[in-house]
Amino acid sequence: MSEILVTIAGTGSYVPERILTNAQLSVMVDTTDEWIFSRTGIRERRIAAEGEFTSHLATNAARKALEQAEMAAEDIELIIVATITPDTLTPATACYVQRNLGAHRAVAFDISAACSGFLYAMKIAKRLISDGAFNNALIIGAEKLSAFVNWEDRSTCVLFGDGAGAAVLRQAKPGEGEVIATEMGTDGNQTHLLNIPGGGSACPITTDNAGDHLSTLAMLGKEVFKHAVTRMKEAAEKVIERANLKPEDIACVIPHQANLRIIDAIADRLAVPNDRVFVNLDKYGNTSAAAVAIALDEANRTGAFKRGDHIVLVVFGAGLTWAAAAIRW
Ligand code: UT7
Repeated sequence: MSEILVTIAGTGSYVPERILTNAQLSVMVDTTDEWIFSRTGIRERRIAAEGEFTSHLATNAARKALEQAEMAAEDIELIIVATITPDTLTPATACYVQRNLGAHRAVAFDISAACSGFLYAMKIAKRLISDGAFNNALIIGAEKLSAFVNWEDRSTCVLFGDGAGAAVLRQAKPGEGEVIATEMGTDGNQTHLLNIPGGGSACPITTDNAGDHLSTLAMLGKEVFKHAVTRMKEAAEKVIERANLKPEDIACVIPHQANLRIIDAIADRLAVPNDRVFVNLDKYGNTSAAAVAIALDEANRTGAFKRGDHIVLVVFGAGLTWAAAAIRW
């Protein structure tokens, strides 16, 4: 029996309406547009409305991906939501999304791999489809990071934003594109570099520690930066090699959107010209698991690549975690 190939049949994304600019942030904490833009490349980010949760962002992105894939929600067999900002610790945000979409046949669960979650989900879904366990899958990266940011800490609050991106994966028909190669990695010795220390079983939030900002993101930015460049370069190189590609064969690199300086360093090390690297973090900041998914959808819909082109996605996040995928569109 020939191998089952897996294609991306549709992408979608959604960001909340409310824009928070660098100028507005400079009224809230001791910072400037100049500092934020020159150190990160971020101009503004989106903030979810009160009552708008991660599952709502995910559902909106998923609807657009289903529409592009010309697929009905009731035909979806698997839903994976990658998030570190779930609506509730349990049940999984994917269960709310399943309900919202009316995707009653789908098995639904979340994965927690921080900014790498969308590509972790892609590898899991690809394998489950190519093994024949499912015919299709809806994978979503969705975050409401604004609920987990310490708005008094200028070193982190300027970096993050809210949003969601989604993709429908299914068995490829002859002549369609293909998720060719995927790579994932983890270094659990670096958990201290980027985390939300409280709110889990190790450190429940109590009346005594409620004011200590333990359930918000804490990061040693400089250390994370160095690991990000090394790991993303290595992961991208692995999938490029496994897909038998050369840098000049790649129409578009879509990296995690955390910092323009990281993105430039990776493009340089991969020898891919900057005009083939997709960037939208100026508009949305770092949306963790959603970032590469939103970027993939925007790149797809704005014609950054076309059918038959090769693209490379590469991500990095807390854990530490990293991942990459080489895709023929
Ligand atoms: O998504 C997961 C992966 N995450 C990442 O990849 C993030 C990786 N790290 C980074 O992107 C960068 O390290 C940051 C953007 C977070 C920080 O940039 P940096 O160039 O590493 O700055 P820094 O943390 O070393 O801070 C430099 C200075 C410090 O002042 P002193 O000690 O030199 O006087 C900070 O206090 O900038 C100060 N600073 C700020 N100043 C104005 C920190 N945040 C701000 C701010 N506005 N918002």
